Amino acid sequence: MAKVKVGFIGCGGRAGAHFQKLVTFKEDVELVGYADVILARAENFRNKAGEGKAYTCYKQMLDETKPDAVVIAVEPCAHGAIELAVVERNIHFIIEKPMDLDICAAENISNLVAQKRIITSVGFQDRYQDITDKAVELLAGRRIGLVEGAWVGGIPGVWWWRKQETSGGQIIEQNIHLFDQVRYMLGEPVSVYAAGGKGIVRPAERNMPGYNVHDYSSAVIKMESGVVVNLFTGCYVKGPSKQNGLTFYCEDCVVDYALRSKLTFRDNQGNVETFNHVVDGNIEQTYILDRVFIDAIKSGDTSKIRSPYSDALKSLKLCFAAQKSIETGEVIML
Ligand SMILES: NC(=O)c1ccc[n+]([C@@H]2O[C@H](COP(=O)([O-])OP(=O)(O)OC[C@H]3O[C@@H](n4cnc5c(N)ncnc54)[C@H](O)[C@@H]3O)[C@@H](O)[C@H]2O)c1
Repeated sequence: MAKVKVGFIGCGGRAGAHFQKLVTFKEDVELVGYADVILARAENFRNKAGEGKAYTCYKQMLDETKPDAVVIAVEPCAHGAIELAVVERNIHFIIEKPMDLDICAAENISNLVAQKRIITSVGFQDRYQDITDKAVELLAGRRIGLVEGAWVGGIPGVWWWRKQETSGGQIIEQNIHLFDQVRYMLGEPVSVYAAGGKGIVRPAERNMPGYNVHDYSSAVIKMESGVVVNLFTGCYVKGPSKQNGLTFYCEDCVVDYALRSKLTFRDNQGNVETFNHVVDGNIEQTYILDRVFIDAIKSGDTSKIRSPYSDALKSLKLCFAAQKSIETGEVIML
């Protein structure tokens, strides 16, 4: 096969991470187009790559450069028409989470992608970590009762993050990574109940006009296996917080996943083992996600893609259910 022609829709922060990997795949990837409503961002990618063309209109980019695949990394509220245009043209895509803030629109895309056999990969790169593989291996066959986890920190700077309408809130935009890891490691959920709070973050004090997302929440997820998971989500913290990640309490051991850094195993015999997350230069989880996607397009074998759109939709639905539970006070059955 000739080189895989790749375009970008959205050339902001997260697209930059994919760009940085894809631009190194010179043997089999040609970067043909970059679209961003802020032209300077598209031009920045083009200048760094030294190939392709910059656009403000993604449809023009798709029609003129005819990519085989695109990376879609726009703000959560900007989805919808973009994916329809991409699917209509039978273009494979990587898409960042959350894939849409309208679950019906996401379901429609998932159905169209399946019908048209379009290859997709959603930005749950943590599924490709060495320590994720190790955690799956360590947990296999063990009796797990409780899992706790947290993503508690500050407020990201991008304009759209602080508003429910534009980001979906912290569970849907950010902690979706841990909700997804829970599904990847433990199987499917059956129900979720979540409570959340506001009032710690004072928008005027922090110069954050329009801030209206929950400051914090706690979600209790019951898994089909019977495991009970409690995930904390918080963005109000200014100072130090506890290590984010997941802790699995098994009958005979505890497995601690420190977010994107290490895994610690402690058993009832007093054994302690630590596994550090290894990053080899440019090669880490986003690199692997991108590499696996390109290889799938070349070979037609999608079996190594760990988060196709259809699967990622289940994590998105779980996060929407948690958010709905915060708003209604009800247990949501999945
Ligand atoms: N997987 C991860 O770890 C990870 C990390 C950060 C962000 N993200 C996700 O990536 C997505 C983008 O986040 P970001 O931090 O890059 O945001 P960003 O604001 O830095 O970039 C988004 C870009 O999309 C552009 N854009 C919006 N609508 C467009 C359109 N119709 N056509 C072309 N360009 C358009 C904007 O101009 C902007 O440059 C979000 O969904 C976010 O949740 C994922």
